[in-house]
Amino acid sequence: MFEKRNPADRSDVVWRGPLAGADDLVAATGVARVAQRGWAGLPAPVRGRVIAQVGRLVEANKQTLAAVITREIGKPHAEALGEVQEVIDTCDFFLGEGRRLYGQTVPSEMPDKQLFTFRVPVGSVVVITAGNFPAAVPSWYLVPALLCGNAVVWKPAETANAVAEALASLFRAGGVPDEVLQVVAADGATTHDGLERALAAGTVDKVGFTGSTAVGRVIGELCGRALQTPCLELGGKNPMVVMADADLELAVEGALFGGFGTAGQRCTSLGTAWIHRSRYDEFRAAFVAAVEGATIGDPTGDVLYGPMIDERFLDRFVEFLDLVQPHHRVHGSTDVGRITSSSPRKGFVGDPDIGWYAHPTVVDGIRPGDALYDTETFGPMVGLGVFDDLTEAIDLANGHGYGLSSSIYTRDPQSVWRFRDGIGAGMVSVNNSTSGAEAHLPFGGNGLSGNGSRQSGVWVLDQFTRWQAMNWDYSGRLQKAQMDVAELGWDPDFRVRTTVTP
Ligand code: UN1
Repeated sequence: MFEKRNPADRSDVVWRGPLAGADDLVAATGVARVAQRGWAGLPAPVRGRVIAQVGRLVEANKQTLAAVITREIGKPHAEALGEVQEVIDTCDFFLGEGRRLYGQTVPSEMPDKQLFTFRVPVGSVVVITAGNFPAAVPSWYLVPALLCGNAVVWKPAETANAVAEALASLFRAGGVPDEVLQVVAADGATTHDGLERALAAGTVDKVGFTGSTAVGRVIGELCGRALQTPCLELGGKNPMVVMADADLELAVEGALFGGFGTAGQRCTSLGTAWIHRSRYDEFRAAFVAAVEGATIGDPTGDVLYGPMIDERFLDRFVEFLDLVQPHHRVHGSTDVGRITSSSPRKGFVGDPDIGWYAHPTVVDGIRPGDALYDTETFGPMVGLGVFDDLTEAIDLANGHGYGLSSSIYTRDPQSVWRFRDGIGAGMVSVNNSTSGAEAHLPFGGNGLSGNGSRQSGVWVLDQFTRWQAMNWDYSGRLQKAQMDVAELGWDPDFRVRTTVTP
């Protein structure tokens, strides 16, 4: 029996149940494979209507779903509502796609022949998601995958099985058949074994994974052996560049939300803020004051952040604190590490001893070569570093090899365009924080942050459909491409003769 407890109150068991074995995962992919044919046989507008129904149900159940998110993973209530809204937005975007899913008509090089393209569903899809966005990020996979005519086996994070069950029940109530969306609660090792076997058995056509870069590499290897390209949404060390001409108050606010929203456990969380030397002291003073003054605690209240997702996340975060070096200075709280009654946080709301809370940590003096320069710390920690010109800032922002989200604060359009051009990240914010992407722009990263796949908006359609090309020759004879193509004569030596002097 696996148990997930409320990270804000360890006595509260939120989910208890058996975890599946590798066989169960393999079997589910077999069921999906068969069910997919019937689902794909429905007209796409009918599937779009189902997505519309799911969206309306999620909207009607917004408060309940948000409450489950807060209770299971500790996300503050306001953010949890935002997360559910992201599910609704995703349904709203894709409900109309059922009436589009456009292909093209393309001219042929020969007469009496027409070319076409069609979007074809990939088939049976395995989706493996993380606990930090237990509803929104899964919906980025589930909604377009189902709309496009695929069947899905969803393996949610072990930390978020209750949210997964609640969300899946809304998909079912909205009209998605049980075999078309199956939820398998399993641990990581089992998922690896089951996926390896299912890929070898040919019952999986596509894998979507959101999680760490390390696990993404393993999934990429497994899929590569089956000649498949997974959709990988991995970690980040997201930079914020604050130029000399920046609105500092705005930048501080952006850094606070980007660094500490969801307790720093977003893949878009701010990693290091790079500040122009002329504004460094001023930024640090204002940012440290904002972090020190922020309210942390019970996630049902109005707090900047609540507990870590579970004890494991807290322990790992505390280990990352070992990466602080003697040349760094640490700010932001009354202590570092776990918040307890013997290591209290000023202004903490609630009882820290019954939950898994971490002090916010600002590490001042980050530079390349530091472990903290290129380690994703996945918790409430923000680094501060200095730069002298934009070229250096871009190098610092790219140098660790991650490329998910990024941000620049400036009033100068030239800096904006140079930054956009030079940054390797898949997402760029201007005068806005690294987190908070909207649900209809491409979401995804490069380098250590992913394999270039994109979720959301129309761009994700290429993950869940494959292009089929069709040519239709109605000439009644075999016309050979490249060989039986008409040519009109031309005079390559022709030059204009004119009395007008050019
Ligand atoms: C994630 O952390 O995996 O842009 C996704 C954001 C959210 C999604 C984050 N809309 O911060």
